[in-house]
Amino acid sequence: MEGDITKIIEGYVDAHTDDLSDLLKDLLAETESITGRSRWSIGKVEGKMLQMLIKISNTRRVVEVGTFTGFSALAMAEALPKDGVLTTCENSKAYADIALRYFKKSPHGQKIHLKLGAALQTLGEIADNSQDFIFIDADKPSYGAYFDEALRILRSGGIIFVDNVFWRNKIFKKKISNENAKAIAAFNEKVNRENRVEKVMLGIRDGVYLIRKK
Ligand SMILES: C[S@@+](CC[C@H](N)C(=O)[O-])C[C@H]1O[C@@H](n2cnc3c(N)ncnc32)[C@H](O)[C@@H]1O
Repeated sequence: MEGDITKIIEGYVDAHTDDLSDLLKDLLAETESITGRSRWSIGKVEGKMLQMLIKISNTRRVVEVGTFTGFSALAMAEALPKDGVLTTCENSKAYADIALRYFKKSPHGQKIHLKLGAALQTLGEIADNSQDFIFIDADKPSYGAYFDEALRILRSGGIIFVDNVFWRNKIFKKKISNENAKAIAAFNEKVNRENRVEKVMLGIRDGVYLIRKK
């Protein structure tokens, strides 16, 4: 029953959440057919949640760590105002090429600047206190370093949205052996100890940490 109820809740939540744009649906379908990894994309409910957060926080400047094929970047760009700017970091040219192809098809694509290379290097080039929102969704062992950079580049009141903080429920094991799960568990403790932020952890999908810089 436990497994079933999770699926039932997910289906119910999905059915009571607004639909994605047709372009985002196409991108998910093509991501699956080319990479077989559409599960890496945050999907509909988290995508709509990011859009909602961006709209209600009057966000104009966003940084994303982990573009993949561009689903979350395009979702966020759709929610940004006309003069909004989203900088997204990806180190795989193959994934970035798919993302760029879709950004070109969207009227919101011109808001997105894709930076090919190591995310930490791109973050290092962003000015202090200059951003409103950062979405962290790349290599798990670097989450702590991305969080430190987020605190530097965000203005006071800026938002940090972090995906996969349950790491496929592996962080709940008594003895954690998976390296990504170890990194995520350490990251969650780091955030929980940090006094410069307010935070709420949400049990949606693979776990989300919603954090606000004081
Ligand atoms: C989970 S996927 C991102 C999914 C995307 N946010 C979405 O919802 O559509 C993580 C991405 O981070 C990229 N990545 C991993 N380590 C990276 C690094 N150090 N710098 C830049 N990109 C990285 C991977 O190539 C992968 O495409």
